[in-house]
Amino acid sequence: MKKTELKKEIEKLREEINYHNYRYYVLDNPAISDAEYDRLMQQLEVLEKKYPELITPDSPTQRVGAKPLEAFGTITHTIPMLSLNNAFSIDEAKEFDDRIKRLLSPHPALSPVCRSTGRRKGRGEEEIEYVAEPKIDGLAIELVYEDGGFTVGSTRGDGYTGEDVTLNLKTIKSIPMRLLKKQGSGVRGQGPAPAGFKQGSENKYPIPSRLEVRGEVFLPLKVFEKINKEREKTGEPLFANPRNAAAGSLRQLDPKVTASRPLDIFCYGVGVVEGVKFKTHWETLEALKTFGLKINPLIKKCDGIEAVLEYHQEIEKKRDNLPYEVDGIVIKVNDIELQNRLGVITRSPRWALAYKFKPREETTKIKSIEIGVGRTGALTPVAIMEPVEVGGVTIERATLHNQDEIDRKDVRVGDTVVVARAGDVIPEVVMVIKEKRTGKEKTFKIPEKCPLCNSKVERIGAIHFCTGGLSCPAQVKETIKHFVSKRAMDIDGLGDKHIEQFVDDGLIKDVADLYYLKKETLLKLERWAEKSADNLIDAIEKSKHPTLPRLIYALGIRQVGEHMAHVVAEEFGALEAIMKADKERLLSVHDIGPETAESIYDFFQESHNIKVIEKLKKAGVIFPQMKKVAGKLAGKTFIFTGALSSFSRDEAKELVEKHGGTTASSISKKIDYVIAGAEPGSKYDDAKRLGLKIISEEEFKNLLKE
Ligand code: IVH
Repeated sequence: MKKTELKKEIEKLREEINYHNYRYYVLDNPAISDAEYDRLMQQLEVLEKKYPELITPDSPTQRVGAKPLEAFGTITHTIPMLSLNNAFSIDEAKEFDDRIKRLLSPHPALSPVCRSTGRRKGRGEEEIEYVAEPKIDGLAIELVYEDGGFTVGSTRGDGYTGEDVTLNLKTIKSIPMRLLKKQGSGVRGQGPAPAGFKQGSENKYPIPSRLEVRGEVFLPLKVFEKINKEREKTGEPLFANPRNAAAGSLRQLDPKVTASRPLDIFCYGVGVVEGVKFKTHWETLEALKTFGLKINPLIKKCDGIEAVLEYHQEIEKKRDNLPYEVDGIVIKVNDIELQNRLGVITRSPRWALAYKFKPREETTKIKSIEIGVGRTGALTPVAIMEPVEVGGVTIERATLHNQDEIDRKDVRVGDTVVVARAGDVIPEVVMVIKEKRTGKEKTFKIPEKCPLCNSKVERIGAIHFCTGGLSCPAQVKETIKHFVSKRAMDIDGLGDKHIEQFVDDGLIKDVADLYYLKKETLLKLERWAEKSADNLIDAIEKSKHPTLPRLIYALGIRQVGEHMAHVVAEEFGALEAIMKADKERLLSVHDIGPETAESIYDFFQESHNIKVIEKLKKAGVIFPQMKKVAGKLAGKTFIFTGALSSFSRDEAKELVEKHGGTTASSISKKIDYVIAGAEPGSKYDDAKRLGLKIISEEEFKNLLKE
């Protein structure tokens, strides 16, 4: 293909991808399957890899990939990004409307007289046309498009200069890299045009040579919850609200981090627009929409302030069900000519107003702190507070997340605190008002015993867990589900629904009870017939002969996955031996780190767990022995690094195991031999540092021969 043709082909692909991106991320109405989309992306990637000189910064492949920055540059906004005056009541909103009418009314002596009333008519008599919009609680940004291509994006900063966050904004999929010229024409496989658009029609508005778009970047509530859950696990401090999380994500120097936290945007205005003139704000939003920019679908034209007040109520009612955080509405005079006449005072336009909702934050007092135990055994401290209304809902419980968060915020029983809620997210304690302390407040520590089953509590990362596993009532359903699963005891025909039914009906309290289930009992339950009952009893019977690793894995010891179950089984050969091992003995095994050793040890220290194990044995579950394979490599641990020439990694591992040795996946002092192939990786350096025995592939082969 000739270069010009190639260029055309690449352009066509990009146009297609951009359009489908728009259908998916902006309209939420995809026209093709994900697989088809991936195929188009792949085609483009292949071509761009072959002809890197044809890559452009606005290509859809260039959303992530840039290297981390040292620091952000600064951007001066051509037109300052203003802030808004706030109103908190109906009266304040009405005052805003009155003021506008007053300011727009010409001098009374100059206005015409009304024939019927004899009063002078002014602008003050007519209702003002407003546009009312949800006020998104995120952070304001500006996007610059030159000849339709996205060039620079920045934060609001102090209103005059902001930070250059172009690379991070590129990772937001609902921000078009190129503005749409037409509504989908010239695009192959585009599917039907979305509602409200004519198929293949030219845009009503030409693409401006320069377009500065303003909008709010935000983190959808679902993503916010997910990020905080992950941070809780890793022990990182939690984000107080979606707004902070969005700001933190957008201000990452590494765009890859931003990309991992899917931000979104709603555009709500413009700065400089060259080449097109809009008469109204509504028309501006319409144009932005046809350019492929994301506009909030709840924005409404309102004739007069009464309609605006209704809108305020309507959105406040919807607030809890929206997938993003909204803290009020923004009211804007629709007519741009009128906007200009009204002008700006001290950094806020006279033609716009933020009419806030009831705050989502309130202060109250902590009466006590309770511990909740989750399905996974995680212990969550919960503040019990004097009831308080937050954003229209009375709350008296708020999560304190974990011990680190309690310590970081220095929360004590008796403290006066700020509590907040966002959407359907569980209310949480944001901060302590320390000035209100009397000296009688008491610090709080998560107890060492589970409040439900009295088992020992252990800490993994930032979270405290109950070690009661097999017998803790909070964990019983999840433990049983894990126990019967395919890779554990593999009890066929026992689904999650059945387990919930059995536990709820009090038929089983722990995993061992499964083996005492009777056919007659099942037949008395709803939805159980002769055949299904027979099948289940059969499957339970069959599961009585597990392999040792499966049995260990099925117990659901924290930190003991399938691989670890194998390691432990091979090392100790029998469950009884593992039960007797102390922490030191466990730690001497390769691949077992301190947390795992502690977790295994604690599990078997718990008398509840021992009881369940004995109950299993009594029911006839066989606890198998595993003979250690005797061989040339018995008792030796190996690790591989670099490429081997005579066999694959898996083959080499198999050879080691066949000769009675074991292989490790990470470097530690417990390793006997490091086998270094070609171009060994970081394991090699680590091995050298630890002074481990490093041998070549040839030497390894000799070991096998000896
Ligand atoms: S208009 C002059 N519209 O609220 C107009 N702002 O308190 C300035 N915001 O900095 C902004 N949703 O971060 C506008 N639909 C909306 C908005 C909105 C959220 C934020 C924006 C702005 C702040 C002003």
